[in-house]
Amino acid sequence: MKKLLIATRSKGKFPEIVSELNGLPFEFLNLNNVSELPSNFEVEEPAATLEGNAIIKAMILGKKTGFLTLAEDAGLEVDALDGRPGVYTARYAPGTDKDRYRKLLGELQGVPEEKRTARFRAVIAIYNPENDKIRTCEGIYDGKIALEPKGENGFGYDPVFYNVELGKTNAEMTMEEKNKVSHRGKALRKTKEILKQNFL
Ligand code: IMP
Repeated sequence: MKKLLIATRSKGKFPEIVSELNGLPFEFLNLNNVSELPSNFEVEEPAATLEGNAIIKAMILGKKTGFLTLAEDAGLEVDALDGRPGVYTARYAPGTDKDRYRKLLGELQGVPEEKRTARFRAVIAIYNPENDKIRTCEGIYDGKIALEPKGENGFGYDPVFYNVELGKTNAEMTMEEKNKVSHRGKALRKTKEILKQNFL
């Protein structure tokens, strides 16, 4: 079976990606089970845009391993912070996911519910080292930053990202529920079509 490298070490992202692409005739690899790469191999995210980072990651890892490679970069844009942290979401604060969302809640202290609008954006790049072709797509997910964290599921900022229609945070959803509405789920459904049309 053809191999598809999912260029992430994130324990939260990999299952979300695989569950959405399931059914396609690929063997899904992640960075932790590719013998072609040293176990500590990391790709920096030097670009000023999510798209730039996704493309760089997919190309470097695809060239290095020879596998068709999918890379994703995501960011959280908070309106009350003029779109920050955006492309710097992963590096917004040192420490754990919890440290980062606590800092966000701190920055938004005193901001009323109606002004706590935000969105997740995910850009996915697929790189084929056989013909040097790259394709990208995007998914956007609107919501609000909750007043306090809620729920145990998911990862990253999920406990503080509130879905107004469903009346709960991402961390209160099952993975299937989250994939239906999330930035990553939307980008992955486009990715699935791109893979079917171009790479199978
Ligand atoms: P990156 O795409 O791995 O660089 O992630 C960017 C940042 O956004 C990290 O801090 C992630 O934890 C966070 N993030 C990305 N996607 C999600 C999500 O679906 N839920 C919550 N946090 C996320």
